[in-house]
Amino acid sequence: MRLTVIGCGYLGAVHAAAMADLGHHVLGVETDPARLERLARGEAPFYEPGLDELLRRGARTGRLRYTAALDAAAARADVHFLAVGTPQSPSGRGADLSHLWRAVDSLAAVLPRCVHPDGMPLVVGKSTVPVGTAQQVADRLAGRALVVWNPEFLRESMAVADTLSPDRIVYGLPDETARAERARTILDEVYAPILAAGAPRLTMGYQTAELVKTAANAFLATKISFINAMSALCAATGADVTVLADAIGRDARIGPHFLRAGLGFGGGCLPKDLRGLEQRAAELGANGLASFLGRVDSINRGQRDRVTQMALEALGPDAAGRAVTILGITFKPDSDDLRDSPVLEVALRLADAGAVVTVHDPRGLAGLSRLHPVLRTQPDALRALEGAELVILGTEWKELTDLDPEAAAARVARPVLIDARNALTPSRWTAAGWDYHGIGRPSEPRRSAPRRRALAGTMVG
Ligand code: UGA
Repeated sequence: MRLTVIGCGYLGAVHAAAMADLGHHVLGVETDPARLERLARGEAPFYEPGLDELLRRGARTGRLRYTAALDAAAARADVHFLAVGTPQSPSGRGADLSHLWRAVDSLAAVLPRCVHPDGMPLVVGKSTVPVGTAQQVADRLAGRALVVWNPEFLRESMAVADTLSPDRIVYGLPDETARAERARTILDEVYAPILAAGAPRLTMGYQTAELVKTAANAFLATKISFINAMSALCAATGADVTVLADAIGRDARIGPHFLRAGLGFGGGCLPKDLRGLEQRAAELGANGLASFLGRVDSINRGQRDRVTQMALEALGPDAAGRAVTILGITFKPDSDDLRDSPVLEVALRLADAGAVVTVHDPRGLAGLSRLHPVLRTQPDALRALEGAELVILGTEWKELTDLDPEAAAARVARPVLIDARNALTPSRWTAAGWDYHGIGRPSEPRRSAPRRRALAGTMVG
């Protein structure tokens, strides 16, 4: 089939490449010249395991091409995917839909008017939007296209697998039966190999489909804030939140995932989708939901305060000039994404307090010193530790959690460690002489030196 994918950011670039891999002829529409140039060369504009290979294959087969603007020729495609970004609005908590409306208007300008729905192309919304948007898109494109809302659930670092083997495919269909039937048939053809492999396909109305996406992200965020709130109680009582999470997670109704206490969630999706849903709930009078989601967000932001406080206490009365090394700066491992990265916020606050902050990250250093010249960067993990008076593990990259505690201890000035992701085995680090502090897990005594005063951040929330 002939497809366009409008917007080739994270979602669109992966979707376009995956659709070409399924055998479709895909035209990616991308207005950012730098991103367009990289994609046209067959290179991923961001780090995503497995994406380069799909892009190269798409370029080699000629099935994956790009353009800066949608023209009349491009508009002859069977299906147009809307995959533009819907970031948090700079002036509030809701979503900024300006890219979406620009994309819809560009489609409206090139799609011919059509008397019968059978002659219309399909426009498939993949972007995350406030509930009620899909109907507005359908209204703007009335007489030119059928509209389906088909949210995406891909995770950064797992994006290729999540797109090609999703847990579920959601179709938000028009109310009218004949239109819904035609839309469903076309989209089934697009996803035929994925559906044939057994992915469940769930059909519903526009509003429910829009809410499935934001509710899923809000629920994941809630699990994380729940365990982070519990970690404060664990810290106050001497309980261990990692053991607690493991034990409650074995109940199949609770499940083991998204119960890792630490610095909390960041990135380009969970925080802004949570706030977008909170804002929409408030607008629509669902005040209980709005205040609940606001609490999930404030607990999450509180984790950044808590780790900053722990670090300042570890540094003593004056942080000025003290050497801090941050291991891992991206919002999660296996990604180079710094958007709303929790540890980046902590690093900047410590630098504000006068600490000399050195950052190491396997993928997140490119552009970091340009964006934040106050942070020093070091591409070698052990060198980054040289002379540190405090080390913070901020992102649980495997190469960082695998570091040898003894080799690391030999480099630092003071072996004090905040494991802000609860990703290390405390006994391994204390055995090597480290003063270990996790989030809501008891600090174990160091083997080679008297135990320091516990950091207050580990004792209270
Ligand atoms: C998230 C969702 O997981 C995807 O399903 C969704 O499609 C995507 O947003 C989106 O809306 O596009 P992603 O932002 O890639 O995916 O990241 P996650 O893997 O969800 O992690 C989010 C944050 O939560 C990270 O900062 C991570 O460190 C943190 N986290 C995760 C925890 O603090 N504890 C956990 O137990 C799990």
